[in-house]
Amino acid sequence: MFKIVTKKVLSEVNKLMEIEAPLVARKAKPGQFIILRVRENGERIPLTIADSNKERGTITIIFQEIGKTTKQLGTLEAGDYLSDFVGPLGKPMELPSTPGRVIAVGGGVGIAPIYPKVKAFHEAGMEVISIIGARTADLLILEDEMRAVSKELHICTDDGTKGHHGFVSDILQTMLDDKSKKIDEIIAVGPLPMMRVVANQTRPYGIKTLVSLNPIMVDGTGMCGCCRVTVGGETKFSCVDGPVFDAHQVDFEELTRRSRTYLSEEKTALEKFEHECRCGGGN
Ligand code: NAD
Ligand code: FES
Repeated sequence: MFKIVTKKVLSEVNKLMEIEAPLVARKAKPGQFIILRVRENGERIPLTIADSNKERGTITIIFQEIGKTTKQLGTLEAGDYLSDFVGPLGKPMELPSTPGRVIAVGGGVGIAPIYPKVKAFHEAGMEVISIIGARTADLLILEDEMRAVSKELHICTDDGTKGHHGFVSDILQTMLDDKSKKIDEIIAVGPLPMMRVVANQTRPYGIKTLVSLNPIMVDGTGMCGCCRVTVGGETKFSCVDGPVFDAHQVDFEELTRRSRTYLSEEKTALEKFEHECRCGGGN
């Protein structure tokens, strides 16, 4: 059993939890993820490691309450326990060998998985320009944390309640058009449509662009094939070959199709859970 040491409500739907998992914390590196189960018979969900603390023996996760399991997780409080917490999984992100300028694009809850990567770039001496966006100001997460590890931080909201009124890709385009600033690498983490747009935007400029994928996963160890994704015409397993891949090589069309496979089952599970909650169960 894994204890929830801290819980913070970041927005109406985004929550942060610090979990006591010393063995995971000892080995965790930026770019890696964990798989947890709230209850022994529950669904396994992958979540990127947003931060780790070897001294405290803790891992920080940030999640959006979007389906049954994330809503169930959100009902737990500091002092409660998770049934399983496995990791670190996936390949750590590779850092560029020479210092340079990196643009980090984080969309919505994707700001959580991009934060440890930006922190690692910053600590490696890279100049990081971050662009973060959310549907509305209240859903914007980790603004102060991102500012602390970025040379510049640009904020966007779809409804104009904070920063630029529009998508993160608008700001990225102005940077791509600015020939006075050389860009060595771009990393984008967020919803699939956002990562796909960023990949299409940067392709003509020939700038190395990375994305962190979160396809459907089950075992997280390369055995079940659920997380398969086509990269450069080859089948890769996101859990062991990724989750970070070359954005220009990812088949986003197929990935988008596969991500919708269980939509109706997910909807049914959520409705059942919400019904149970209303009737006093659900945990
Ligand atoms: P969202 O839909 O609110 O979008 C967040 C921001 O991304 C927007 O404000 C906008 O700036 C940008 N964006 C969205 N669509 C865009 C487009 N078509 N073109 C350009 N920019 C666009 O995001 P959300 O609801 O916070 O995120 C939920 C999604 O994120 C889920 O689908 C989830 O699977 C995904 N997610 C991905 C990761 C990952 O590791 N890649 C991690 C967690 C969640
Ligand atoms: Fe099963 Fe990746 S989750 S192979």
